[in-house]
Amino acid sequence: MRVTTRPDRGVTVIELHNPPVNGLSHALRVGLAKALEQAMADDAVRAVVVTGSQGIFSAGADIREFGTPLATQAPTLRGVIELLDECGKPVVAAIDGPCLGGGLELALAMHHRVATSSSRFALPEVTLGLVPGAGGTQRLPRALGAAAATDMVTDGAQRSADDLARIPGQVLLDRVVTQDCVTAAIDLARSVSGAPPQRLRDRSVTALDPTYLARKRSTLKARNRGAEAPIRALDLMDRAASVSFDEAVAEERRTFERLVVGPESAGMRHAFFAERQARKVEGLPPGTSMRPIESAMVVGAGTMGSGIAMALLNAGYPVLLVDNDATGIERGRARITATYADQVERGRITVGEADTRMQRLRTVTDIEPGADCDLVVEAAFEDWDVKSSIFTQLDQIMKPGAVLATNTSTLDVNRLATVTSRPEDVIGLHFFSPAHVMKLLEVVRGERTAPDLLATAVDLARRIGKTPVVSGVCDGFIGNRMLASYREAAGVLLLRGLEPREIDAAIESFGFAMGPYRVGDLAGNDVGWAVRKRRYAENPTMPRDEIADAVCELGRFGQKTGGGWYDYPDGGRVPVPSPVVTQLLAKFRPDIEEAQRPTDEQIAEQLVFALVDEGARILEEGIAQRASDIDVVYVAGYGFPRHKGGPMHYANQVGLDKVLAALRVQHDDGWQPAPLLERLAKEGGRFR
Ligand code: COA
Repeated sequence: MRVTTRPDRGVTVIELHNPPVNGLSHALRVGLAKALEQAMADDAVRAVVVTGSQGIFSAGADIREFGTPLATQAPTLRGVIELLDECGKPVVAAIDGPCLGGGLELALAMHHRVATSSSRFALPEVTLGLVPGAGGTQRLPRALGAAAATDMVTDGAQRSADDLARIPGQVLLDRVVTQDCVTAAIDLARSVSGAPPQRLRDRSVTALDPTYLARKRSTLKARNRGAEAPIRALDLMDRAASVSFDEAVAEERRTFERLVVGPESAGMRHAFFAERQARKVEGLPPGTSMRPIESAMVVGAGTMGSGIAMALLNAGYPVLLVDNDATGIERGRARITATYADQVERGRITVGEADTRMQRLRTVTDIEPGADCDLVVEAAFEDWDVKSSIFTQLDQIMKPGAVLATNTSTLDVNRLATVTSRPEDVIGLHFFSPAHVMKLLEVVRGERTAPDLLATAVDLARRIGKTPVVSGVCDGFIGNRMLASYREAAGVLLLRGLEPREIDAAIESFGFAMGPYRVGDLAGNDVGWAVRKRRYAENPTMPRDEIADAVCELGRFGQKTGGGWYDYPDGGRVPVPSPVVTQLLAKFRPDIEEAQRPTDEQIAEQLVFALVDEGARILEEGIAQRASDIDVVYVAGYGFPRHKGGPMHYANQVGLDKVLAALRVQHDDGWQPAPLLERLAKEGGRFR
């Protein structure tokens, strides 16, 4: 039973039951429509209350039904809403927990809403490449006012009942209670029974201010990097005051129906499910237990260590931050203090929250006091001798069962584990800088990492708000190993005569947050240079990235030195093409003939397909558990446009035969494609 009903003092209480999130599946809609019809027909029923169960009202459409006949099979959500529109008795939503998407559209079609203060509201359709499809863009402005509703519809983010109730003039929430919203809703339903039901659709709405609208449009364009849904959502909000409710709802429906079958929504939905799938670890014995993590030590108070410390502090863990000397720890503490002060200034956290987090932080110059911590994350200088010596010491002092994690981005986690007497307790936790902000966390599973340690690490990632992806051990793990191929492909384009700015512009118009040369200048070109030097030493016959090396030899490390691939005049952050780099490039390559100049699309695909080829190798070697995990790495950690789903999803959409053909055209050397890519392309298969 997806829906249950019970009578309560002349009111029918309808409860939704569709775990895990009360998605509005076909079965649930059938049950809800039937329960509403019965209540309408029963003269003994004075009013209706609809509520969720298990702490959730409804997360909206059952996304698993998209693209299946069930999604459009009657009664649709619009059908249920029509029932509510025609209903002669008051229907009150009793909302606890998330009330999202179609769940909110359903509640908006009811006549009153009572919510617990902690319940959360959103129309998150734009985050799935969609617009609301059941009147949300037209009822919400009538409930909240045009501007507040527009913000909510175009960013898709959740707001609490308390925050929404504070919006002046709002009629979204009749009452906000601290507990038992159902009893409060029944009381309200009884008090309004007999009076004509109040429908939001009958209310008027004021037009959006043209200045606000123009500003919003340009912000959305810049922020969403080519994604269409937020712009269409804005258009629909603009319609609310200019056309009739029915006309606007029909336009909303047409937009939804067009977007739901388009590539943007397919990419966004893929990313949504891929992130959730990535938390599931293959090969863990059923019922694997987890180690309790209640305290943490972070070794190394540099940028990375301080960021990791903040990620842990923010999630409520007490953290012991260790560095070699007083200067090191003072720098770390100052960095954390400054970050929290900045967040307070921007209104992201309160002064009280900042203080509480700082109180959880202890800084010391010795690892000894951390011996009893449940978790230690080593974030020291990226050097074998430094890290192996820390692991030797950790092995000596840490309590049995403690999680020994390294934040290395390039060293061999298996080898590091062997310097300890407990390799099963060693794991990689590869954070991305700034670690308190970036969502991706590569959880690096060593050959001997214990299953419960792996499960613990994945769970911890989620607790600290990260998106975990399990990676096997290889040079660069999933993300940086693929990045090397991507950069190599960019280097080939440079050698053919393109300018850094042309390559950056092409991949940015594909939707990447930033092109490879702007990223290099931002992160510091010396970082990659140090890695290359290590690799050249380990493998003297490997081809050298001569241009990138030459840029670094000039001391052009990027923004921090006032110049890298670009110049940054007056210590600014705005890249300007550099005559020095142009001169340097001329030494390595001929001028490109105009007829040979690739289009932006060809440039972008050359880079993206290089990711795909390396991704296929990573998949075949079992370094990644599944293709969608690779997509999560690129979307969450490397600025790949979410609306394109990730490199492997994008390749599936393009067709692997076409990807392979394009890669063959790009390579005139002895390059061989990844065997998996070649095989799948031949079979007409897809990455899975
Ligand atoms: N339809 C179908 N399944 C859904 C779903 C939906 N609308 N929302 C979540 N799920 C599934 C998830 O895939 C996950 O399944 P799994 O356990 O098999 O991996 C499960 O529900 C739990 O979701 P998860 O996100 O892991 O839980 P959470 O507690 O962190 O968050 C929500 C719960 C509801 C806040 C979050 O899932 C969410 O934002 N969902 C999307 C809501 C949405 O976009 N609705 C509009 C649809 S147009």
